[in-house]
Amino acid sequence: MNVNLIAVPIKYGCDRDGAQHGPSKLRELNMIDIFKGNKDIYDMGDLFIPQISDKDKFKWHDNMKYLYPIRDINTNLAHAVYCSLQSNCFPFIIGGDHSLAIGSIAGASKYFKDMAVIWIDAHGDMNDFTSSPSGNIHGMPLAASIGIGHYGLTNLYHKGPKISPNNVYLLGARDLDPGEKILIEESGLNLYGMKEINEKGLDIVLSEIIEKIKASSVDGVHLSFDIDSLDSSLVPGTGTPVIGGFDLSQTKLIFKRLLNEKFITSMDLVELNPLLDDSEESTAKLCIDLIDYISKLL
Ligand code: ARG
Ligand code: MN
Ligand code: MN
Ligand code: MN
Repeated sequence: MNVNLIAVPIKYGCDRDGAQHGPSKLRELNMIDIFKGNKDIYDMGDLFIPQISDKDKFKWHDNMKYLYPIRDINTNLAHAVYCSLQSNCFPFIIGGDHSLAIGSIAGASKYFKDMAVIWIDAHGDMNDFTSSPSGNIHGMPLAASIGIGHYGLTNLYHKGPKISPNNVYLLGARDLDPGEKILIEESGLNLYGMKEINEKGLDIVLSEIIEKIKASSVDGVHLSFDIDSLDSSLVPGTGTPVIGGFDLSQTKLIFKRLLNEKFITSMDLVELNPLLDDSEESTAKLCIDLIDYISKLL
């Protein structure tokens, strides 16, 4: 299967300058050629992101920054993802901040009858506008995809919830907001927090997830990978790093086990912020290493 690479240089969801430069930094470090060395990919270019002034961030909602621009960008992304799947291509979405997963999932879920989502993240991204401590929409995409939150996001691209919580697997969480914890509980999604992973062992947890997905009736699986799932020491170039995360070999094990199943039908890689990276650009280089690794497995 061919890969459609869709870059989304968005920062409005994290409200932090730099996240919009993720795609250009990865291009500068030869992402496309590295990808092409392993897989037939088509670079679909950068999705159009309109310039919005900082001053307007609360123009559309008082606790959801840049709500309508984020809705509109994600609607276009959803259509790009949907069209890719329809033409038998694997959508590989590069961020940008994690708000873009609203669009990836909206697009993929229109194509598939019943879809699972594996969400790899230090965070839950399960806030709505009442529980969010920051008003940053990158903390809300998983909730929105399940149908929780503002109608502008929950009805994006096609009406209603995109995925059912019992088909959601949240892996690596270790920094959850109080209100978010309640929403996670109530939703009943499959939570594999870092504490549980450390106790049970990552390999066993991955087997459990794989078994559950295979036993379910889903016809598509979206993998949403936030680089802050890695330990904060490994990813200085991300906006919300958290200690106690995955090391590099664990991260590769996750990709190896999941991609070897051949059930993943689309994926995101998000939250690289080149402006926060160290002078060696170690976070950007780590993303390149992962893209090389992933593209061999696709
Ligand atoms: N929970 C925090 C918030 O809602 C942080 C979210 C971080 N999300 C991310 N995609 N990095 O503001
Ligand atoms: Mn800039
Ligand atoms: Mn995160
Ligand atoms: Mn995230």
